[in-house]
Amino acid sequence: MEVSTNKTDRTGFNISRLPPELQRQLTDVYQDNQIDDALEVNHIYLGDARELLSKIQPNTVALSIWSPPYFVGKEYESYLSFEDWQQLLSTVIALHFSIIKPGGFLVINIADILVFKDAAIPKIQAEVVSNRRSPVTREDVLRAMAAHPDYNRYQIAKLLGCSEQTVDRRLNGNNIRGGKYETQTRVKVVGGLIEEWGLKADFYMYDRRVWIKDAAWENSRWHSLSYKSVDEFEYLYVFWKPGVTNVTFVQPE
Ligand SMILES: C[S@@+](CC[C@H](N)C(=O)[O-])C[C@H]1O[C@@H](n2cnc3c(N)ncnc32)[C@H](O)[C@@H]1O
Repeated sequence: MEVSTNKTDRTGFNISRLPPELQRQLTDVYQDNQIDDALEVNHIYLGDARELLSKIQPNTVALSIWSPPYFVGKEYESYLSFEDWQQLLSTVIALHFSIIKPGGFLVINIADILVFKDAAIPKIQAEVVSNRRSPVTREDVLRAMAAHPDYNRYQIAKLLGCSEQTVDRRLNGNNIRGGKYETQTRVKVVGGLIEEWGLKADFYMYDRRVWIKDAAWENSRWHSLSYKSVDEFEYLYVFWKPGVTNVTFVQPE
């Protein structure tokens, strides 16, 4: 499939034939704001997208498809706070609007953040019943305390034949002594953020698709090392810049 777009001056599309309200909205979009010393077509440039995008000739890219850092702790994003990451993505999306051709598309490939650190989550650790070293239960402790209201934890422990820590854990849960020091993680859905940044940049959310990783994914380093941090599929968010889009289906030879 080939996608090309029309502009007033190149293909005869006449913006003045649109309703006045649309003309007002699209005049800027259709303007030819040529820049001097733009990056060359069909060259590969390596660098920070935030610097390179503004050097691309406006209204020249029919389709830009990319996959940003997902904020899952990979090396190339480890320097970013969540605020920095949001700033990076929203800036790169915003910088796309002027370079995409009217009627062209911006497609972002991304997954939800499955290991989003949230300091507010209570650090409750699941009790692994099968790993319990002492058979003493919470009910045993409560019964002993009811029978001996004057006993402290050490005396209750002696009575039940277990350690004082066991009494403490049965009463208060695992996290009281040590527990989990690590900040807990939860899911952060990113679709709403991507949509917001796209709309703010004047794009329209045109489509949303998923693609599913093939079976080889299960053997990848990321799948096995971070089972909980990756999905078996990812999203493609498709944004459209207002304009005339000509879609030509190319027949396979
Ligand atoms: C999820 S990976 C996508 C990899 C890509 N699909 C590929 O096959 O190479 C995110 C990529 O964004 C790059 N990246 C991170 N920050 C960037 C920035 N400010 N400008 C350009 N690329 C950046 C990373 O180096 C990494 O290669």
